[in-house]
Order: sequence, then C-alpha cells, then structure tokens
Amino acid sequence: MALKATPAALALALAISLEPLAVTEDARIADGARLAADPQAGDCGICHHLPGHDARDQGTVGPPLAGVGSRLDRATLEALMTDARALRPGSIMPRYGVSATAPRVPGVLQGEALLSPSERAAIVAWLESLKAPTQATPHG
Ligand code: HEC
Repeated sequence: MALKATPAALALALAISLEPLAVTEDARIADGARLAADPQAGDCGICHHLPGHDARDQGTVGPPLAGVGSRLDRATLEALMTDARALRPGSIMPRYGVSATAPRVPGVLQGEALLSPSERAAIVAWLESLKAPTQATPHG
C-alpha cells in the first residue's frame, strides 16, 4: 500500500510532533505542584495554603497561593523562589536557591540550595498556572 501525504495525514503528523511540547509543560506544572507539597522538597504547605489540598493541612503564615499567577509575573516568582529575602527583606520564607551556610544548617545540607534550578523552574511553572478566576465587573 502506497502512503500518500494527504493534508489530513500531514496535519496529524504535525499534531503529533507538537504534542511533546504541550505534554512537557503540563508535566512540568504537575511536577511543580508535587514538589511544592512534598515535605522532602518545597514543603510550601507548612506556611501557605496550596490550592487543591485540604485546608486543615495548610499553614497560614504566608498568603494563600491560589491565584498567585495572576498577581505576580514570572520574573517576580522566579526571584521569590531563588531568594525571597532579597525581594522581601526580613521574610521568613526559605531562600530556596541560595546555598545554606548558616551555622545551624545540618551538615548534609551545608553548601546546598534547598531546591535545584530544575525543581525551582517546575514550581515557578506551577505558580504561574495558578490563575485567579476572572471576576465579573461590578456594576456602578
Ligand atoms: C517558613 C514559611 C514559608 C515557607 C516554607 C514558604 N513560604 Fe512563601 N511566603 C512566606 C511568607 C511569610 C510570604 C509573604 C511575604 C513575606 O513576608 O515574605 C510568602 C510569600 C510567597 C509568595 C508571594 C505571594 C503573594 O501573593 O505575594 C509566593 C508565590 C510564595 N511565597 C511561594 C512559596 C512556595 C512556592 C514555597 C515552597 C517552595 C514557599 N512559598 C514556602 C512564607 C513561606
């Protein structure tokens, strides 16, 4: 059977070749959500309410993260995830991208950042995806 490059076949081939890109971004967002909630990784839920998690299992030290992707742009989210204190002086949010060298940091963590660049990028992708629902314009 001869294969013909019909427009439908070409469109299908194009759709298949583009798919990995979309899957990769979705997978990155899912990865970010998992890393944020994971006590062995971001553990963000000890201070923040994470959308999609039980409200009783969440911290209230920081603002709830629902809708944060509408409030803050990517550059701000990246800066926060690298060194929250550089952006918000005096913040108690951990400096996830800065090597830990303080005397009380346990030996195994000395000189290590809490999260790797790829882990931080995944969390930023997840934060960016947390858009606020569009509000109807109030009357008056
Ligand atoms: C020890 C508590 C703590 C932890 C853990 C923590 N944060 Fe925060 N975070 C804060 C506080 C407090 C603020 C409010 C701003 C400030 O005072 O620093 C904040 C602010 C933020 C903001 C800005 C929110 C806004 O609406 O302005 C984002 C985004 C954020 N945190 C994401 C995260 C993510 C993602 C993690 C986990 C990787 C995390 N935080 C872990 C305490 C924490």
